Amino acid sequence: MKTILITGVTRGLGRAMAEEFIRLGCVVVGCGRSEKEIVQLQKQFTAPNGFAVVNVADDSQVAAWAGQILSSHGPPDLLLNNAALINRNAKLWEVPAQEFSDVVDVNIKGVTNVLRHFVPAMVKRRNGVIVNFSSGWGRSTDAEVAPYCATKWAIEGLTQALARELPSGMAAVPLNPGIIATDMLRSCFGGSASGYPLPQAWANIAVPFLLKINPADNGRPLTAPV
Ligand SMILES: NC(=O)c1ccc[n+]([C@@H]2O[C@H](COP(=O)([O-])OP(=O)(O)OC[C@H]3O[C@@H](n4cnc5c(N)ncnc54)[C@H](OP(=O)(O)O)[C@@H]3O)[C@@H](O)[C@H]2O)c1
Repeated sequence: MKTILITGVTRGLGRAMAEEFIRLGCVVVGCGRSEKEIVQLQKQFTAPNGFAVVNVADDSQVAAWAGQILSSHGPPDLLLNNAALINRNAKLWEVPAQEFSDVVDVNIKGVTNVLRHFVPAMVKRRNGVIVNFSSGWGRSTDAEVAPYCATKWAIEGLTQALARELPSGMAAVPLNPGIIATDMLRSCFGGSASGYPLPQAWANIAVPFLLKINPADNGRPLTAPV
């Protein structure tokens, strides 16, 4: 039985992936900041699945969570760095300093905090796949989402550099998930977000794809099938 670690499981793609991985017989451990949704997940999906309130931008919270998970479940087979924020649509020079920092803190530093505390155990076992969620906007750009674009381009570079550091038997890839009708898409696309697939429909196709990523993919920028 595979253990899947997912950040940002309280809604959107993370939530849909958690449900689909569990339906396929995997064990899911996940986190998010919203306590109400985490408690609901704990009730719906009991042990060996596990859900915790963790802010990935806080290195000490991630360290404590990793300590618990690594002793209860061991290293994950698949680590999905999915949690992210997008800035409110605005020209770059109109984005407040705090909002820019928040996007960087979650999308780049948060991803790195998770890697810092989980990857050593995966490397020791010389096994496991790391998927860092990128975006179409990690490979192209658009007006009014510059902070988000900057972080997703960073994810592409960070992940490809990480791939060069892993032992054989492992993989790290940046993944563009496509365009899916989530809170994040509603933030940047407004009403036209409703023309895109719902997270559950996306997860039905994306989860089997994620389960097939293997060491031969190491360092390859991937795009989820539609
Ligand atoms: N939807 C799309 O079309 C699309 C396109 C390209 C890329 N992506 C990428 O796909 C991933 C998922 O996006 P989504 O559309 O599902 O976004 P979403 O609906 O906004 O969900 C984001 C998730 O991340 C969690 N999160 C945010 N900040 C966090 C933090 N500091 N610590 C822990 N969890 C945190 C949120 O939970 P809490 O608020 O409870 O913490 C939530 O569960 C992201 O990496 C996004 O950039 C999405």
